[in-house]
Amino acid sequence: MEFYLDTADVAAVKRLAAVLPIKGVTTNPSIVSRSKRPLSSVLEELVSILPADSTLFAQVIAHDAAAMVDEALHLREIVPSLVVKVPVTHNGLTAIKALTQQNIPTLGTAVYGAGQGFYAALAGASYIAPYVNRVDAQGGDGIMLVKELQRLLSLHCPQSKVLAASFRTPRQVLDCMLAGCESITVDPDVAELFLLDPAVDSALQRFDQDWTAAYGELKIY
Ligand code: E4P
Repeated sequence: MEFYLDTADVAAVKRLAAVLPIKGVTTNPSIVSRSKRPLSSVLEELVSILPADSTLFAQVIAHDAAAMVDEALHLREIVPSLVVKVPVTHNGLTAIKALTQQNIPTLGTAVYGAGQGFYAALAGASYIAPYVNRVDAQGGDGIMLVKELQRLLSLHCPQSKVLAASFRTPRQVLDCMLAGCESITVDPDVAELFLLDPAVDSALQRFDQDWTAAYGELKIY
């Protein structure tokens, strides 16, 4: 599967890329804004620290289809292999179709419904990003959305992949992966929660105590 980090935090990407097989990094306008840096410098720095075969995603901010296409072309000048995120609206679908005709890979984003995401796949998007936590927060069922979308894509648009997004808890991430999700993007803070169980530290402290009590030094040889 493809595991992405949803962030513009270069230090967090470096830290987690050292321990996880990160396929790349996804961003959105809110994430980039939090860095308070120009988009081009954020993207260039991310490219410089990721392995060469990684995939980077950035989102258009225009609302008009023609302007979205222009922004997509500009983003691809900064990072030629970039996958362009386009919100799945009427204009977004027009832009996805136009970009597909130019062989520019897209991700249909801001997906809150299976039918909405399915339209993006029909328009040619390579990835579709259902917003799991945001759907849950509205009282919906984010994992059900992922499952429905996966089923629709496997039946009718096998060339498109679900790239599940928007997580607040490790449980949501696990449920998504258990549903067979092919790709997922996770905020670094949520990704690190899998490694932050205090019981792990306490188990390791106990090993250290037992060893030093018996052998004096914390050394195997
Ligand atoms: C991905 O496409 C989205 O931009 C992102 O995952 C949204 O996540 P959030 O709900 O945590 O803002």
